[in-house]
Amino acid sequence: MLQTSLFPTLASAKRSRKERIGVHAWHPYYAGYSEAFVSSAIAYLKLDSTSASSACSCPEGLGTRKTPPSPLLLDPWNGSGTTALVASRWGIATLGWEINPVMNVFSYAKSGYLFGQKHLLAELCQKITCKSLDASIPTSDPLGDFMSASLCCGIRKLYAIVHSQEYPEPHFERAILKMIVKDKIQLNPFQAFFKAALFITARNLAGYKGGSNPTWVKTQSEKPEVGKTDMISEFKRVVGSMIRDLDLSSIPITDRILHLPVLADSRNLCLPDNAIDAVITSPPYLTRIDYAMSTRPELLIMFDPKTLRTIRENTIGAPVILDKYIKINSTWGKTCLQLLENVQKHGSKAATSYYLPNMIQYFRDIELSLREIIRVLKHNARAIIVVQSSYFKEHEIKLGDIYVEMGNNLGVKSEIVNREIIRGHMAHVNTKSNQYKKGKIYFEDMVLLTK
Ligand SMILES: C[S@@+](CC[C@H](N)C(=O)[O-])C[C@H]1O[C@@H](n2cnc3c(N)ncnc32)[C@H](O)[C@@H]1O
Repeated sequence: MLQTSLFPTLASAKRSRKERIGVHAWHPYYAGYSEAFVSSAIAYLKLDSTSASSACSCPEGLGTRKTPPSPLLLDPWNGSGTTALVASRWGIATLGWEINPVMNVFSYAKSGYLFGQKHLLAELCQKITCKSLDASIPTSDPLGDFMSASLCCGIRKLYAIVHSQEYPEPHFERAILKMIVKDKIQLNPFQAFFKAALFITARNLAGYKGGSNPTWVKTQSEKPEVGKTDMISEFKRVVGSMIRDLDLSSIPITDRILHLPVLADSRNLCLPDNAIDAVITSPPYLTRIDYAMSTRPELLIMFDPKTLRTIRENTIGAPVILDKYIKINSTWGKTCLQLLENVQKHGSKAATSYYLPNMIQYFRDIELSLREIIRVLKHNARAIIVVQSSYFKEHEIKLGDIYVEMGNNLGVKSEIVNREIIRGHMAHVNTKSNQYKKGKIYFEDMVLLTK
């Protein structure tokens, strides 16, 4: 249900069980937030303007929409594309900026535009046969950590077919085309759909799963050999089941693409000033989640290990240190500076050699990203940013407060508009985290920035 109350409140960002099935289960993405939160944020930001609600009458009205241009929403940390998926139900166009190409594939594959073309998806799928799958088995392949040589070989060949196949040119919503130069559109939505199907096929057949840390995929000791006929029939089964998932996900059919995921860095948004009507997003938190490594098999299907490393290094909050000499900036605010001082004084070697530079790098990257978000927002436009607190040993990392202070120091009105205690925090996975302080409480904060 879309929220229509006069004074909307923000719903929890925690995903319900219902949101771990269907399109949300295509990729087991630890970090996704709830559809209910995005719906409530759209209502809160009053983005359900006349343009949005009239554009919503899509399913039967293909090609007949006489609406003013949609408001333009940005998610600079797009992930699995929840913002865009929900916004599409309101007829709102979304730009989804994301550093990880795998997540862009999954996000684009959930488009209502594609669902409107399901006969074409089925036709394109028919053209993929096992006759075209012959390839020699490589002696060594980085994908070999996850699958047998025969499966590696089949998956690589199938990926090449899906990648190079010709696809129909999509039609984009005006608001998106106005913002985007054609050469920024790196991915075709049909291609994204089949790449997503291929990733799911590889996962199903190889059987790899997450470990106790939800952002790492375990390498496989047992690797089943799979013949090309079995691989193709699993691929076709997956395509059919994905089409059914689209059917059940109440994503409205659209005749224009309402969501463009772009491979881009939140620290450099490559958009004009004052171009965006609103931002709804959730950045990486300071929990050292390794987003790139959670998609390691898929990244190794798409790229070589060197590119995977580069993606990981550009992922904000990743547990890698690229620069040990970044200067602490007073713009980050007093809560942040106090935290960094506490870490510095902690006394352990790891605190100064690893945790401190890792945190400084994180805050530098968040400052760059917030500057960009503020720059591209229109005057009076607003951003809602979901963050969670965490701990360094016994010291609380009050991320919500830090974002508020940083936003205020960057010249926009910033406040926490919703705070909730959370259960099932990433830190609970690490049973040692309680040894420093018993009864830790973790918060999820919704930070509102108004330009
Ligand atoms: C908390 S997740 C967002 C989840 C999303 N709201 C959803 O529902 O799926 C943060 C995302 O930021 C992405 N990210 C990290 N560094 C980035 C950067 N420099 N530029 C753009 N995206 C980045 C990560 O790959 C991850 O997908």
